[in-house]
Amino acid sequence: MIKYLEYLRCGMIGLFFLIRLSVDAQSRIVLDLNSDWRFLLGDSVHPDDRDFSTWRSLNLPHDWSIEGAFDKANLSGSGGAYLPGGIGWYAKKFKLPNRAPQLVSIAFEGVYERSEVWLNGQYLGMRPNGFIGFQYDISEYLHKDDRENILLVKVDNSAQPNARFYTGSGIYRNVSLILKNKIHLGELFVKSHDVDQTQATLLLDVPVVHSEQLNGKSHLRWEVLDSDGKVVVTKTAKHAGEIRGQQQARFVDSVTISHPQLWSPESPYCYQVRCSLISGADVLDQLTLKTGIRYFHFDADSGFYLNGQQRKIRGMCMHSDLGALGAAFHPQAAKRQLEMLKSMGVNAIRTSHNPAATGFLDLCDSLGFMVMSETFDVWKIKKNPFDYHLYWDDWFERDFIDHIKRDRNHPSLFIWCLGNEAQEQWHSVELGTSIPKRLAELVDSLDGTRPTVVANNELSAKNPVLSSQAVDLLGYNYNHLHWRSFPKDHPNRPLIITESVSALSTRGHYDNVSIDTVRLWPSRWDIPFDGGNADKQISAYDHVRTPWGSTHEESLFLSERLPWVSGMYVWTGFDYLGEPTPYTWPARSSYFGIVDMAGFPKDVFYLYQSIWTNKPMLHILPHWNWSAGDTVDVVAYYNCADEVELLLNGKSLGKRAKADSLLHVSWKVPFTAGELKAISRSAGAVVKEAIVRTSGEPHALDIMCEQSASSEADALAFIQVTVRDRKGTLEPRAAVDIRFEVEGAGELIATDNGNPTDTTSFGASHRQTLHGKALAVVRKLGNNGQIRVKAEADGMKPVYLDIPVQKK
Ligand code: GAL
Repeated sequence: MIKYLEYLRCGMIGLFFLIRLSVDAQSRIVLDLNSDWRFLLGDSVHPDDRDFSTWRSLNLPHDWSIEGAFDKANLSGSGGAYLPGGIGWYAKKFKLPNRAPQLVSIAFEGVYERSEVWLNGQYLGMRPNGFIGFQYDISEYLHKDDRENILLVKVDNSAQPNARFYTGSGIYRNVSLILKNKIHLGELFVKSHDVDQTQATLLLDVPVVHSEQLNGKSHLRWEVLDSDGKVVVTKTAKHAGEIRGQQQARFVDSVTISHPQLWSPESPYCYQVRCSLISGADVLDQLTLKTGIRYFHFDADSGFYLNGQQRKIRGMCMHSDLGALGAAFHPQAAKRQLEMLKSMGVNAIRTSHNPAATGFLDLCDSLGFMVMSETFDVWKIKKNPFDYHLYWDDWFERDFIDHIKRDRNHPSLFIWCLGNEAQEQWHSVELGTSIPKRLAELVDSLDGTRPTVVANNELSAKNPVLSSQAVDLLGYNYNHLHWRSFPKDHPNRPLIITESVSALSTRGHYDNVSIDTVRLWPSRWDIPFDGGNADKQISAYDHVRTPWGSTHEESLFLSERLPWVSGMYVWTGFDYLGEPTPYTWPARSSYFGIVDMAGFPKDVFYLYQSIWTNKPMLHILPHWNWSAGDTVDVVAYYNCADEVELLLNGKSLGKRAKADSLLHVSWKVPFTAGELKAISRSAGAVVKEAIVRTSGEPHALDIMCEQSASSEADALAFIQVTVRDRKGTLEPRAAVDIRFEVEGAGELIATDNGNPTDTTSFGASHRQTLHGKALAVVRKLGNNGQIRVKAEADGMKPVYLDIPVQKK
């Protein structure tokens, strides 16, 4: 039966190809190859195997580690969230008809790691780096007749640990087939030049491969389209006589756009450039890409300027896992994260410490984030026994070149970060000088429009990376006490804080100790931590930090105030899998995030929002469920107001305004149950109110969907469940086990609560609330009908949510 289904599926794919080819027989075709794969976890496979009927069916992108159990014994250790690695095999059968264009390649966007690929038993190659995309030309080995093609991919993530953070395992990004004519366009590169408000020049560069086939009827047509798809400029380039007979000829051209709409975080306007290779009436190949027009520079004294205006880079470092969904890229889950960060006032992202998914950069282009794109966490000297140092000599140039070429057209990309905290800073003057120099040379030759930087955490003069003049910007990780003296320490060098803060917190958890003392957890990076809280949680008042970092408030204050600081990338926007500093098992994910892993904001989210946005806001913490006799610190973050007044059960506890060096106000309040209310005022007029109330016992659940699941294919619905008391107040300490059921046109794919110590598998259909909240992620199945989500807990009535699913 499975065999029959497999056959049917392949037949459908063949038909699909035939339809596409008859429509557009001459030009390039890119086919999504993500559906209907078979997967086997284990290594009992031979590349000549043809029967995969007992293997599991799945669609890509896929991460098998996230499906595994958290286990202290897993070799990935705390960095890898104690999740399993191992070896896995993927198989895919497909057919191509005779009329396929001559050249076919297969493109993998990311396979973690050490992938090996076979087509019809023919070995295509191996790629150790799990973050860099790669392609194989399969034209020679492909059956273009009625026979099935068999693609086999071995993924080997068994040597652990091979990273300092969670990577996932498997084909975790998209796979596609690219069909093109023998004569075709190579890598298109578009850059803007001489930009100001009145005009911009676009420099266009594309090679024609197999240009010996060009004839008198061939030409290249360039078109620039605005965001409505209207052509604003067209230009035709005839090939010059002398390229005839050459195997590859470059066409370099330029077009001018008058009064361009500039790209910025607030207005991420994109044009499209369409390049067509034409012969007579035929389009032999066509490439279209999005581009943005903007100009920027860094100044040693006054920081960063975009489109002529001085501004701060207000960035977040982000690992590429998507929390409970693991490393498998899902555009909607990434969009949810980015939109949340946007609402906090973030305008920049650092893709730490590896190239991001293309879909992630597409989102940064369209939502407006200035990306610092990073390639390496490790150069030649290791951080872990099985990490990239093993492959450095043989692969770094190829990997880096592929990364630059893949990403250099994205308007959101602003800075190339060549490496993070490389060991060469301390251990090799020779490598610490030559490696950044070589990497920067490659950027200059392949891009030449963006500055380079290295993220340094060793600031002494002994650091060869810092003292070499190889890169354009000086990048500091942490070391906030050295930011003030930077102009003196490094005259005439522009500064960007590549990584900052590393403060710690659990959403909704407050230790009732004075917030006037900041706690260092651990006390030193190399001293194992044996303190902290018995439940391995961390107080969310912004008063716990790592010794190398700062509180959020300290770095935020300095970054905003010191003009030579171009801005900073805070560690991290979201909590991520692995690195549960300062704890170890059962803690398995980070405490660094400003938003927890389930996507619920912690209190410091509002600190940034108060400084980075102009929309009036007011937030108070903590909750108001304490015990008689407690004296509780109450903190408020606010903007657009002169002062905040706090009232307990209607009685004023006084007005406070932010002191010059502080970004919050606070009160010490003897606890009495009831209502704590803050009112912000500007010139006496009320701007905002914020209230927290003492809650009673858990009484009811409420359920809500963050967005509609109906609009996109493969859409996800993020569903929040909150525990409330009889009066509807959030129960802020509730740890209630919620059971989820999904019926109809959807399936439950993950549950989470943001608790870094919860070792229940993310695929479980039940989840304990953390401080009253839990999340379920549901994937739409099919195009019609309704998804019904049920959430229930002992002693409370079940609640239901219906989500309509419609055809697109
Ligand atoms: C930095 C490092 C990050 C992360 C962070 C935690 O030094 O670059 O990857 O480990 O520390 O504070």
